[in-house]
Amino acid sequence: MLKLAVMGSGQGSNFEAIAKFFEGKNINITCISDIPDAKILKLAENLGIKSELVPFEKNLEYFSKNKFDLVALAGYMRILPTEVLAQSKFINIHPSLLPAFKGKNAILRAFMHGVKVSGITIHFAEEKVDEGRIIAQFPVIIQAQASFDEFEAEIHATEHKLYPIVIEKILSDKVFDFSDLMKSSYSKGSEGGCGGCKNH
Ligand code: GRF
Repeated sequence: MLKLAVMGSGQGSNFEAIAKFFEGKNINITCISDIPDAKILKLAENLGIKSELVPFEKNLEYFSKNKFDLVALAGYMRILPTEVLAQSKFINIHPSLLPAFKGKNAILRAFMHGVKVSGITIHFAEEKVDEGRIIAQFPVIIQAQASFDEFEAEIHATEHKLYPIVIEKILSDKVFDFSDLMKSSYSKGSEGGCGGCKNH
């Protein structure tokens, strides 16, 4: 059975979307957090998914002993060093169209800057924050009258729809691109698009 780890420090809404997407599918999921009282760990418990509290300093030891086919970072707030990243295939999700708005508060910074199209990016994790090669992107158009709250909600909804699909494609070792993701369940009812998903 394929082994997926989802690693986060906070709310865990992406973890929840991933866990629900893979319900009943043949994927073994482990939820990992560095924060003892993080909501993501509580969610894992409620969903009956194995969870591990792994302090940041213990990551190398943990990932050298526990092997995963893929580790999906979802709101993990620490920078993983290269020797940890070398233990598995690590990907990350970021709430902007990289390379724009790297780092924290990307959604707010994009909105305050007046961008008209933002979106989400899924990329390989590197020691440099939000720098790794891009796997998939989806745009979110900011309507003229949209409030920040509406924009933020649309970004998160896009993350929740796209991340599980991209994870499934990577786990099944599929080369995929814009048109494949548009054909997927995500595109139904969505105004979004995707690009740059090949060569993961
Ligand atoms: C997401 O917006 C993700 O793009 C960013 O951190 C946030 C995590 O949210 N890297 P959640 O913990 O999955 O709710």
